Amino acid sequence: MSTLETILSDATSTLAAVQTMPELEQVKAKYLGKSGSLTEQLKALGAMSPEAKKIAGAAINQVKIHVESLISEAKSRIAKAELEAKLAEESIDVTMPGRTAGVGGLHPVTRALERIEALFSTMGFAVADGPEIETDYHCFTALNTPPNHPARSMQDTFYIADSDHVLRPHTSPVQIRYMEEHKPPIRIICPGRVYRCDHDATHSPMFHQIEGLWIDEGISLADLKGTLTQFFRSFFERDNMQIRFRPSFFPFVEPGVEVDMEWENKGGKIKWLEIGGAGVVHPQVLRNGGIDPEKYSGFAFGMGLDRLAMLKYGVNDLRLFFENDIKFLGQFR
Ligand code: DAH
Repeated sequence: MSTLETILSDATSTLAAVQTMPELEQVKAKYLGKSGSLTEQLKALGAMSPEAKKIAGAAINQVKIHVESLISEAKSRIAKAELEAKLAEESIDVTMPGRTAGVGGLHPVTRALERIEALFSTMGFAVADGPEIETDYHCFTALNTPPNHPARSMQDTFYIADSDHVLRPHTSPVQIRYMEEHKPPIRIICPGRVYRCDHDATHSPMFHQIEGLWIDEGISLADLKGTLTQFFRSFFERDNMQIRFRPSFFPFVEPGVEVDMEWENKGGKIKWLEIGGAGVVHPQVLRNGGIDPEKYSGFAFGMGLDRLAMLKYGVNDLRLFFENDIKFLGQFR
């Protein structure tokens, strides 16, 4: 047998036996690689006479083409076998229960908020918001809060080192921000996160407030009472619910009041629950917002949103809202 014939018959039997892709690569290299036997044959052509080269070259090429086609046959045979093995191994159990997509739900505080926004919007209030990292000016100075006021103390407010910014301790700065951008009539609520150095069963360092502001000609404390009464009655679905105002002090209102709502506890006993602060916007606050207090007046209020959600849904520990326990949150889906 000539060398070429030997190569071909050797390649034919070897390739027929090859089982894996890496093996196939090795066999391919043995014949067609840099120092493969067919490559060596081609190299040897250089030393031949033109006549001999022509004949030998054609013979080598023929074998080469043959070997190449054997290689590609082996390749598809191996690929097919590999696929079949894989399919046999990965049998599908059609009786297995499927993976269901978990149905999410809104957080109870978000649900309460959506309800509150909807109720106030029926009374013509728009929803506004402002930054949580807020300037000292918007949180205190513009709201008429004197430099020595206790709300400005380090025990209450998170100050940001080397800056005139704080984590806002209430949503009231949005009043100023909104007045800076808009002319009366103004009728907004501003819900959002607020921060204070406080942590126990009823206080969290982050909690939610909802601020309200209505400024127009001739707005009074009576409008405040009517608006809040209407809101509480709708929110808690109790037609006769009463609210009451107790005189109080907040630097940004005059007069200022504490808002209590009537609440019937489980034993049927009626008591008053404090739910927020409110009042008639202080003339200086209007001026700070670029509004003429001779022409316009208004009321403002601030309430604890988490507290409203707790009462609405019967939750007795504020911390449950922020622990992200699916068992707790799942009840509100
Ligand atoms: N900002 C006050 C607080 O966080 C609550 C408040 C009181 C808001 C009276 C008001 C208001 O708008 O008029 O304690």
